[in-house]
Amino acid sequence: MDKSEHVKQNLILIGPMGSGKSTVGRRLAARLGKQFVDCDQALEAYLNVDVATIFDIEGERGFREREHQMLKRLCAMSNVVIATGGGCVARADNLNLLRENGLIIYLRTSVKHQLARLSRDKSRPLLQAPDRRQRLHEMAAQRDPLYTSIADLVVESGAQSVAHMAAHVSKLLQQQMPEHQHRRKQKMDQQHG
Ligand code: S3P
Repeated sequence: MDKSEHVKQNLILIGPMGSGKSTVGRRLAARLGKQFVDCDQALEAYLNVDVATIFDIEGERGFREREHQMLKRLCAMSNVVIATGGGCVARADNLNLLRENGLIIYLRTSVKHQLARLSRDKSRPLLQAPDRRQRLHEMAAQRDPLYTSIADLVVESGAQSVAHMAAHVSKLLQQQMPEHQHRRKQKMDQQHG
């Protein structure tokens, strides 16, 4: 499929915890005039409990099933920026789902930056390990090849500000996916006469 011609005009952010998917995604959506949706937040709002509680009650397997169902709902939307959860690539059926429903941007980061960004985090069940650094390295080893395999764009996410990252991604989209931008402009021109 030619992603530059993708009719749904969705952008899907993937990458590990603490790579900035939610913060950058929200800012990017505002820049591009798209709606922002976050899979974990949508799940929490839908079930009225937080992610940690879903893990407590249903285990990781239960959470992954819920996550898959929510991703299907979000992927049915158009002209949205979707922030996924870092573990969505753990299920093979999510890989195709994401690939078929938007342009995929991988926010790649280092364990060093993740540790800095997540130093105060208590909400992520998979981070509640005695050695966070080792846990994050293990997850990166498993997941980086999967993120890379479905990414249309790979963007390094380090110490830059959210605004800088959103501007950078936006510029890369313009440079590397000009047809995507062009189609968006055409659509806007049609809508606004
Ligand atoms: C997870 C990442 C989290 C959340 C859950 C599991 C993971 O999302 O979905 O805690 O397996 O990496 P973020 O990537 O938004 O932190």
